[in-house]
Amino acid sequence: MRDKFLETELLIIGSGISGLTAAILGAQYGFKIVIINRSPSLEESNTWYAQGGIVYRGQNDSAKILARDIYLVGDRIGNIENINILAKEGPKIVKNFLIEKLKIPFSKDTGKLHFSLEGGHSKKRIIHVADETGKFIEKFLLKELKKYPNVKILTNHTAIDLITPSHHSPQTRFIYRPLEVIGAYVLDNNLRKVKTILAQRTILATGGAAWLFLYTTNPEGARGDGIAMASRAGARIVNLEFIQFHPTCFCQKDAPCFLISEAVRGEGAILLNEFGKPFTKKYSSQKELAPRDEICRAMYREMIERKVENFFLDLSPIKKSGLCLKERFPFIYQQCLKYGIDIEKDLIPVIPAAHYTCGGIWVNSEGKTTIENLYAIGEVACTGIHGANRLASTSLLEGLVWGKRCIENIKRQKKYEDLKKFQIPTWFDTGIETPDDVLLRQDWLTIRTTMWNYLGVARSQKRLERAKEDLIYLENRIEKFYKETKITDNLIGLRNGVRVARMVAQSVFQNKKSRGCHYRLD
Ligand code: SIN
Repeated sequence: MRDKFLETELLIIGSGISGLTAAILGAQYGFKIVIINRSPSLEESNTWYAQGGIVYRGQNDSAKILARDIYLVGDRIGNIENINILAKEGPKIVKNFLIEKLKIPFSKDTGKLHFSLEGGHSKKRIIHVADETGKFIEKFLLKELKKYPNVKILTNHTAIDLITPSHHSPQTRFIYRPLEVIGAYVLDNNLRKVKTILAQRTILATGGAAWLFLYTTNPEGARGDGIAMASRAGARIVNLEFIQFHPTCFCQKDAPCFLISEAVRGEGAILLNEFGKPFTKKYSSQKELAPRDEICRAMYREMIERKVENFFLDLSPIKKSGLCLKERFPFIYQQCLKYGIDIEKDLIPVIPAAHYTCGGIWVNSEGKTTIENLYAIGEVACTGIHGANRLASTSLLEGLVWGKRCIENIKRQKKYEDLKKFQIPTWFDTGIETPDDVLLRQDWLTIRTTMWNYLGVARSQKRLERAKEDLIYLENRIEKFYKETKITDNLIGLRNGVRVARMVAQSVFQNKKSRGCHYRLD
């Protein structure tokens, strides 16, 4: 197998809102950029599936009020400096970049932007494109990106590992330099060939790890690739115990799990128990619009008390208010209809599901990690903004703001290395065996059920001990399997997934205090 070398100024791994924003702004500054996505399409990202919207500035709203909402929902442990940056700069970038430059057709009401409400917000401030906000943002960003000839797009390419001279150079003297990243080994899934991409700066924008749970709103790409690669390279990873669960994920036998946006409750839908009775009032005065962690805990208690299997969303109050459900929620309407639920008259069966990784690779206010020339933006990163629980519709905003801030930082960097001097060798594949799909499938199932059953909405010492031991054992077995087997995208993901699962278990184990979405029964 022959390797191929590529050299660039900027390597961006991942193409959701943060990666594409960084790519567009970087391209405008004239950087030579390579952007990769492991899927056949650059569109595939968590951003694509975002329904609810993006935080803007509502009526009688201010940066201060938004910052307070973010901090309170994060259970008062968020990073105040970064929260203030987001609250101040976010709405300006939404206006200048998304609304005015890209002209994203955000939904309007009598000619003015329509603001919706979601849990934990004290103001109506979320703008949206019906219930397909992420799709539109992604499409418009991609359309813009394709205007720049200095951006090379590589789809169907999976990053395997970050390249650090201290690990990968045959010259031992580089061990004594500070930890630095100079690109990545990347598997071309079409040619089944590993490329060595050398880059002055590398940006991880690979999304989170919520797909590691059996029930999730996330696509299969959210398997923790970026977190695993950064941790192998030696980066600092924080707050992984704070996995946010979304209260309303479609739940019906023989149907896939998919998100039912919180905007549905924002417009007036109510949650019902198995007897068709509302129950959220018992747990929070904010009822349906309490922060997600509180609603999920309420659902968990109901489930345990009476062995309830799922809940229901009743959209009839929205209909009564005069809003046309098919127009406001066209995606949810169509998706539910596919599985025999007509939201105009039926209740939607729902359960909580893993939704967002609040922790991740530690970064500063400009997306810099603890490793030289390695940046992380979007869900893969931890800016500390979300503290112990994320405020709805702030994730697209964070991706946008940190995508921009990270490029501004990179623009100020003057140091350019001769990357050839590191003599990075071509990828050496130790594996000769053909991957056995049955083994891979079973390992994934074990990881995902372990995460769901032992590290889900409610955690206990006994469950954690089991999870930790099982995942450590599995990680060792998968590492061995990885070394013996020919590399594929699925195998790369499995190795990353089990590592991140074990790291989540470790963080959960270490944090004895219930906070936000980390809830310990003991
Ligand atoms: C939703 O539409 O409910 C998801 C929004 C978010 O996670 O921010």
